[in-house]
Formats: sequence, C-alpha cells, structure tokens
Amino acid sequence: MSDIIDELIKSRLKGRSSIFRDKEILHPEYIPETLPHREEQIKKLAEILIVALKGVRPSNVLIYGLTGTGKTAVAKYVIKRLVEKAPTLNVKLRSAYVNTRKVDTTYRVLASIASSLGLKIPVTGIAISEVYRRYINGLENWGGLHIVVLDEIDYYVRREGDDLLYKLVRINEELSRARVVLIGITNDINFVESLDPRIRSSLGEEEIVFPPYNAEQLYDILKQRAEKAFQPGAIDHDVISYCAALAAREHGDARRALDLLRVAGEIAEREGVDRVMISHVKKAVVELEEGR
Ligand SMILES: Nc1ncnc2c1ncn2[C@@H]1O[C@H](COP(=O)(O)OP(=O)(O)OP(=O)(O)O)[C@@H](O)[C@H]1O
Ligand SMILES: [Mg+2]
Repeated sequence: MSDIIDELIKSRLKGRSSIFRDKEILHPEYIPETLPHREEQIKKLAEILIVALKGVRPSNVLIYGLTGTGKTAVAKYVIKRLVEKAPTLNVKLRSAYVNTRKVDTTYRVLASIASSLGLKIPVTGIAISEVYRRYINGLENWGGLHIVVLDEIDYYVRREGDDLLYKLVRINEELSRARVVLIGITNDINFVESLDPRIRSSLGEEEIVFPPYNAEQLYDILKQRAEKAFQPGAIDHDVISYCAALAAREHGDARRALDLLRVAGEIAEREGVDRVMISHVKKAVVELEEGR
C-alpha cells in the first residue's frame, strides 16, 4: 500500500504539474482582473453606485440573470474597486457581502452584515431585534455609507420570508448619520415577480439584467483564464472551444464552462499525460454529471 502512496507523492506532489500552472484561477470563487463581455453590466452598476464616492446614497439595485452569467463576479468586482477608492476621496464607504443560500438564517444574515462594520455579534444568545439594534447603532456611530449585497436572495426569502428585506429597504428612515444601499442578486425571475410590490419597488429602484453568454463569449472568458491556469502548450484552442460550446448549450453558464475545463485538466493530470484533449472533456461531462 505504502508504495502506491509514495508513488503518488512523487508524481503528484513533488514534481510540478505538467497540466496546471495555477489551478486556483479556474476556481469558481476566483475573480479575474477583467470580466470580458460584462462591460455593459459593469458600467451600469458602477454608474449607479458611483455617487457613493461623493457620500451620496445610490439607488438600491436588483440584479438578475440565469446561473453562471457573472452576477456575483461583477457585483464583487465593482464594489471592491469603489471601496478601495473611497479612502483616497475621504469618503466612509464599506460593504457587506452575504450569500444568503449559505448563510441561511435571519440571525446569521444580520450578524454577518453587522460584523462587516467590525461589530462583535455573538454566534447565538441574543435576540434578532438586538442584533438589528446593534447594527443601527454601529452604523450611526460610524456615519458612513454601507453597501449591502444579498446574493442568492431567493433562497433566503423562500426559507425565512421577507420580513428582514422589508426592514432593510426601510432602514434609512431610522438613520440620520449613516446610509445603507442594498444590492439584491437572484437567478430566479419568478422570484422577482413574486416579491411584495413594496419590496420590489424599493429594492428594484434600479434593475440590471444579465443575459446568458454565447459560445464565442464563453470562449473568450475561458481563454483568458486558461492562459494563466494551464502550463504553456497543455491546452489547445479546440479544447477550450469545445467546453465553450457545451456550456453555451446549457444556457450560457460560465461556471459550467470553467468546471468542464478544470475537471478535464484534472483527468488529464490523473492519466499522466501533458495535454488536455477533447476526450478528457467528454470524461469531465460524465464526472460532473455523477457529482450533480
Ligand atoms: N465575464 C466573465 N469573465 C470571466 N469570468 C467570468 C465571467 N462571468 C462569469 N465568470 C466566472 O464564471 C463563474 C460564475 O460566475 P458568477 O459566480 O458571477 O455567476 P452568477 O451569475 O453569480 O451565477 P449564480 O446565479 O449561479 O450565482 C465564476 O467563476 C466567474 O468568475
Ligand atoms: Mg452568484
């Protein structure tokens, strides 16, 4: 047995990979420096939020589009750039990002928002109303503008109802020194339509729709990431093109395209070859199917 392990250590851990240079770049959470084919959405979101850099509260924004269309990546990208700029302009600007599919209770969502201001909120033991009160106090003591991103918000509302959203869209009425701007993100258009009209009109003061990517656009996205993620010569353009075409058929999902590329690379690596082939992508389809 130990021979097998030793062999694996020698081949996989010690030697550098002949396939990947930096596999992290293909990870879904990785945000690249540029987001091809999302210029319009970046511009639109930035134009809405830019007044934050004058200390003015921007409109709330509701973002929707199918899965893998770059909603989370664009929101994080734009907000990060604005928050980084703020200190140079003497503006108090901070942001909270909560994925409400993963952070699943009202308590935890609020605690996560509040802790992004540096407030210490215990894991349990205080009432939700108390967490809310501490958030309000924290905001007022600080006196800045808080951008709060609620991602995959449909999961949360289906589970916990819309009380918190209702409170948050009206939170500025309780504030005098600080301001909150909300960005809701969802891939469920039915959810948007089923929202309480009062919430829809406040949260959707501005709405941005993310269309699916086509095969050429997915090709550009994959190529940009593949150039950094793979060893030179380990992947050809026809393999990238094949992954892009498959993902384009599945409603233009960039996450799916990246998964195919990454898993195909892993399979090639496991087989001990130094090039990713279309056959590896076909195996990746099966492997991803089994994991679904
Ligand atoms: N234009 C782009 N350029 C480079 N990478 C992109 C682009 N659009 C999406 N991606 C990548 O594709 C993956 C999925 O994108 P993202 O997570 O933003 O999708 P989403 O619209 O939020 O999907 P979901 O609704 O499932 O949450 C991420 O790894 C992201 O970095
Ligand atoms: Mg997302």
